[in-house]
Amino acid sequence: MTAEWVLSVRGLGKVFGPVSDEVIAGTGPEHGSAKYGPTGSVVAAWGVNLDVAAGEALGVIGESGSGKSTVMRCVVGDLEPTVGSVVLRRSDGSTVDIAALDPAARRALRIHDMAIVHQNPVDGLDLRITAGGNVADRLTAAGWRSFGEIRTRAAELLDRTEVPLVRMDDLVRDFSGGMRQRVQLAKALANNPSLVLLDEPTTGLDASVAAGVLDLIRSLLDDLGIAAIVVSHDFSVIEMLTTRCVVMHHGRVVESGLTDQLFEDPHHPYSQRLVSAARA
Ligand SMILES: Nc1ncnc2c1ncn2[C@@H]1O[C@H](COP(=O)(O)OP(=O)(O)OP(=O)(O)O)[C@@H](O)[C@H]1O
Ligand SMILES: [Mg+2]
Repeated sequence: MTAEWVLSVRGLGKVFGPVSDEVIAGTGPEHGSAKYGPTGSVVAAWGVNLDVAAGEALGVIGESGSGKSTVMRCVVGDLEPTVGSVVLRRSDGSTVDIAALDPAARRALRIHDMAIVHQNPVDGLDLRITAGGNVADRLTAAGWRSFGEIRTRAAELLDRTEVPLVRMDDLVRDFSGGMRQRVQLAKALANNPSLVLLDEPTTGLDASVAAGVLDLIRSLLDDLGIAAIVVSHDFSVIEMLTTRCVVMHHGRVVESGLTDQLFEDPHHPYSQRLVSAARA
């Protein structure tokens, strides 16, 4: 890849339960399962390589249980990989292996350098406080202290994610699903992260609301030049937001390439099934 990478994942694997050569050889798409019967081990992900450049959105697509969230959780440092490395390049140019960090350093990285937008806004927001308060929390975590500056920055972010400013001081609890996702986006972008992870960002929303949020995400990614990973089981979401993608099946990457080409001409039978499902 010629553009400078922001995230580089190499040989990533996560096995729940005992791991051995037999467990790896006995699981995956050709066995129709990520679970190895004799030991009960689940090979949630194995041999995963990903590169994401600044300004690029990479898609990770696969059905339920294929290992998408496992990969995401290893990338953000919530889960320790069984094998492999996850290296992030920060905005100052320094690189860091996320899998090797201690918990405090990992927390700092999650405040300054990367952000997650969860499928369920409850996982990313505090519903008991206001929209502005949710964004302010993230700024204060990064060391912002001036009330005036925090308020100005929070207003700017909410405006950018199309949350009406008259709603800034309303509790997020009283917001609709689409509006909550917009507040989550404002919060995620607060500290100018190098990498944003979007895990099924529109799955819980009505189709018409989802379309508006997808449009917004797309314009934010285009304008801000951040690296992004978009996880979805829905090829139409991946097609709208990403330029390259990987297809996961039973814990393995079965196909990868340019999203448009993959959508036009999927090679792996499982990718073909996903594409026809999205076209139906
Ligand atoms: N803590 C755990 N212990 C044992 N198995 C686990 C654990 N977490 C995940 N798994 C298994 O790992 C596999 C991959 O799960 P993962 O959550 O990554 O899938 P996913 O692609 O994100 O699915 P979904 O679309 O439903 O979110 C599944 O078989 C799951 O049951
Ligand atoms: Mg998941």
